[in-house]
Amino acid sequence: MKPIESILRSAPVIPVIVIDDLAHAVPLAQALVAGGLNVLEVTLRTPQALDAIRAMKQVEGAIVGAGTVTNPSELDAALEAGSEFIVSPGLTTRLANAAIEHDVPFLPGIANAGDIMMGLDLGLTHFKFFPAMAAGGLPALKALAAPFGQCLFCPTGGISLANAPQWLAFEPVLCVGGSWVAPQGNPDVPKVEAVARQAAAMGSAGAG
Ligand code: 3PG
Repeated sequence: MKPIESILRSAPVIPVIVIDDLAHAVPLAQALVAGGLNVLEVTLRTPQALDAIRAMKQVEGAIVGAGTVTNPSELDAALEAGSEFIVSPGLTTRLANAAIEHDVPFLPGIANAGDIMMGLDLGLTHFKFFPAMAAGGLPALKALAAPFGQCLFCPTGGISLANAPQWLAFEPVLCVGGSWVAPQGNPDVPKVEAVARQAAAMGSAGAG
């Protein structure tokens, strides 16, 4: 199994996290891991993100990666902060080649057949389907996945507790990503833990 696949099979939901105050990072990570969501994507959308990755990595059981990585220099910064995997909203050859060179688990975003074919040319088979709902939802992913039986997906963008089970029931979907499990701001720890527990309990048809 590719390293990115074992990460995607670790939990049915990957929280997509935006940290705007470093003090939120550790309590949020602790609550998510306690609830059963151990794969944490910290988006590089705030100045605190890299320090948040460093801090969250100290939480036992957490597998911390960087999201919203859009070019090789962001990838270098994310790796320097200790990111264990890299997520991007899209796919460029520059970014993919940098990720391959560093041998880091890499999950680039795709939204059409051309994106997938570019990924396959680069040796990639595991993709984030983004923005999942706006790009056509589950019917779009089903149509897109049909010609590419070797590919596996993590849909993200508009996924909720309500629609996640439908996505997870589609076999090429290993997990989903979403911000609903980790809302921005001061974390309400018991609430985050409870929502994480609900999300973790969804399991995945593809995770067996
Ligand atoms: C992402 O970067 O994956 C999305 O911003 C997360 O989308 P959501 O907020 O709709 O879950």
